[in-house]
Amino acid sequence: MSGVKVKNYINGKWSGSITGRTLSRSNPANISETVCTFPRSDAKDVDSAVKSARSAFEGWSRTPAPIRGHYLIKVAEILESRKNELGKIVTKEMGKIFPEGLGDVQEAIDIAYYMAGEGRRLQGETVPSELANKDAKSIRVPVGVFGMITPWNFPIAIPAWKIAAALVCGNTVVFKPSQFTPLCATKFVEAFHEAGLPAGVLNLVMGTGSEVGNPIVNHRGIDGISFTGSCDTGRQIQAQCAKLGKSCAAEMGGKNAIIVMDDANLELAVDGAIWGGFGTSGQRCTAASRLIVHEKIFGRFAKEFASRATKLRIGDGSKKETQMGPVVSEEQYQKVLNYIEVGKKEGAKLVCGGKTAKIKEKGYFIEPTIFTGKQGMKIEQEEIFGPVVTMVKVKNYEEAIQVANGTKYGLTGSIYTQDVNTSARAEKDLRTGIVYINAPTIGAEVQLPFGGAKASGSGYPEAGGKGGAIDFYSRIKVIYRDYSGKLQRAQIDVGY
Ligand code: UN1
Repeated sequence: MSGVKVKNYINGKWSGSITGRTLSRSNPANISETVCTFPRSDAKDVDSAVKSARSAFEGWSRTPAPIRGHYLIKVAEILESRKNELGKIVTKEMGKIFPEGLGDVQEAIDIAYYMAGEGRRLQGETVPSELANKDAKSIRVPVGVFGMITPWNFPIAIPAWKIAAALVCGNTVVFKPSQFTPLCATKFVEAFHEAGLPAGVLNLVMGTGSEVGNPIVNHRGIDGISFTGSCDTGRQIQAQCAKLGKSCAAEMGGKNAIIVMDDANLELAVDGAIWGGFGTSGQRCTAASRLIVHEKIFGRFAKEFASRATKLRIGDGSKKETQMGPVVSEEQYQKVLNYIEVGKKEGAKLVCGGKTAKIKEKGYFIEPTIFTGKQGMKIEQEEIFGPVVTMVKVKNYEEAIQVANGTKYGLTGSIYTQDVNTSARAEKDLRTGIVYINAPTIGAEVQLPFGGAKASGSGYPEAGGKGGAIDFYSRIKVIYRDYSGKLQRAQIDVGY
């Protein structure tokens, strides 16, 4: 089976790569099923997309922001009307279970509506001038053309975070989705096409990181890059952008911890650990890949957590009974299994899981895996991006915070406690961009910024309004208007 054929979208038209080359993507829960074939584009395709985005910028940047927002309302409505269909495609193409596929689409709908509203805000300031008959104000203006390089784990939501914010601010876009999720990207871009977005405002170029991602980062016609993915790639992109004088936002992973204190509601904490650790098969930047548990309850917690993890039903995410799907690819599958071996070798104790799941589906299935380990082990420090959780036992709150903060990452953090004072301390002490109290490390909402501290992020968050993505996708322009009819010198003619 050859799957559907999808195309690039440049200047409002669907087309193959200039060379005619293609790649294909198969279902990670059933590797003999081809989901789609897609263009294997290169620098020439990128160049044509950048030209189209540059020429569309003139008109789009002058389109009133509320009108730009109105297109996003239409996009949200189209996505809403196809939520089921898109949710199924997310599951088929990247493997997460269907309810999570729906959640992925819902997050895109939410951000499209939210950013549409930004079209009627995009606030600057009006402040008094120190001189009479003079106005002083700031307005927000677009930056130019953005290159969006997005991951496969949220194949609809993450492109939506970036693209909706960039468009409402008046920028135009060249979008390169992950090569694991070209069909999701196509369906997402179709919604903009059908909403009547002017040609060239959003362009889609598919292919590999080296053949499409690199030319986007290096293209002189691109003013800024937004990237979500690994720390290594993110750092390279940041360095390259710095050289070329481009803006760069990078979201780069995490090693997020849930702290479980001795006074925690244990049942609730186990629920959170299961969802945070094994939701999306652990393939979220926000995944709870570490559990830091107070020694007084460690034994009880570990037992309950492992018993729940072992019972999770693994399989094809499109089946109703499935609770955890496959990992995304052969490469990811090998990487996760390799980390499991590393964990064993460095002396971590395997509590459950640790191998390929024995089920009849032919895909990249790995058992939910729990280790008991020590601070500093590789499996406790490095992002695995799979269903592997490392538990660390601690004596008290201080040690818990020290372990939680003891990695290079700082995306999200969580604490389960019933003591309001402990939760208030943790809120300040956890060095992460997002803190959850009595909830796992995953599940951010679009109306607040999403971004990590330390190596997890560049400091320009996604989503949210002012203080969030809007600050990255717009620039502040300051305007002074003197209507006194005479030369007034600031700082000098003030009379004091
Ligand atoms: C990611 O893991 O890359 O907060 C994004 C969450 C989701 C987004 C995750 N809303 O878990």
